[in-house]
Amino acid sequence: MSAHGTPPGTGGSTSGGASTSTDVVHLDEGHHIGTGGLPARFPDPGLPPHIERLADRDAVAARRAERQVATLFGLSMLATLVFLVGYFAIDYTRGVFLPGIGYTNLLNVVLGVSMALSLFLIGAGAVHWAKTLMPDSEIVEERHPQRSDDASRTKAVDVILGGGDAAQLGRRPILKYSLGGALGLFALPFVVQVAGSLGNPTVAVRELGETIWDIAPGPDGKPGAPIRLFRDPEMTPIKVSDVTIGSVFHVMPETLKNSKHVLEDKGKAAVLLMRLAPTDFDPGAKGQKALSWGHDGIVAYSKLCTHVGCPVGLYEQTTHHLLCPCHQSTFDVTKDCEVIFGPAKRPLPQLKITVDDAGYLVAPEGFHEPVGPSYWER
Ligand code: FES
Repeated sequence: MSAHGTPPGTGGSTSGGASTSTDVVHLDEGHHIGTGGLPARFPDPGLPPHIERLADRDAVAARRAERQVATLFGLSMLATLVFLVGYFAIDYTRGVFLPGIGYTNLLNVVLGVSMALSLFLIGAGAVHWAKTLMPDSEIVEERHPQRSDDASRTKAVDVILGGGDAAQLGRRPILKYSLGGALGLFALPFVVQVAGSLGNPTVAVRELGETIWDIAPGPDGKPGAPIRLFRDPEMTPIKVSDVTIGSVFHVMPETLKNSKHVLEDKGKAAVLLMRLAPTDFDPGAKGQKALSWGHDGIVAYSKLCTHVGCPVGLYEQTTHHLLCPCHQSTFDVTKDCEVIFGPAKRPLPQLKITVDDAGYLVAPEGFHEPVGPSYWER
């Protein structure tokens, strides 16, 4: 309603058509509320004019809208059926390659997409129904004080206080304590479920100690062939000449293609590959160890943060720091990914790499320690 910024005398528009030009308020004229400047009350602008919808006046349009809504609900049912069939029919170890995502688990994709579609289509149908067919009348409900009168408030307090007395909690304390015990124990099943779902940390450490970078010995007992480093998600091999100083690659092992548990294996095997000038590495023992496990300044580290396992995705090229976006743990690549800031308690595990005869980067052995979060016994 305010015509702030409108020159005096030029008038101004008011919404709802309920006001006239005499309602225009000029804030720069020094008037006071109720004395000719701002009015003590603004007029009610009223509701905007009701616009009749096509389906309100045309039975054919209403039937068309009805069919559209039913179609959306029907498609939702179809998506739910796809979810159910997929749940039972798809082998949970099957992987699929999706452009832009890479190798991932087929069952999870089907379940996720079908459930999302099923919910979305129910929502879309309900919105379309509301917009085209549901009653379109505007209703005004006058405000009224929320507070109850004093007599009702006093009565409510009496009822609450009198409840304890009526239940004889004061006179029979054994009831009070046994009820407290029963309710307290009732919470235990929930605690047990949560604690149980956290799993056995000893098993978790063992599982994090095995990744698909590990190379099984051949039938003759000798180490198997080294595993090539592949770009993620393109899954193409990486040549030494591809890795310029300052560049960083997201890497997966070539063996991911044969994985039967794509998501688990991918989650544990994620690696970051960087190239620094060999002189950038710290001259101390840590820096030189990192350099010697790499190839001409190219080094590879697990991408799983050693705090609680987020992907360490940010590389600062000038400082050679890796940063975990979850809680800001920072790792110094020049010192074998030593923790220099944040809650992580140990360096990122390094993956030994070298070069094969064709000039591609390979890992001759798996990680020497478990990847991912640190547990309290480590
Ligand atoms: S998970 Fe990386 S800092 Fe917490």
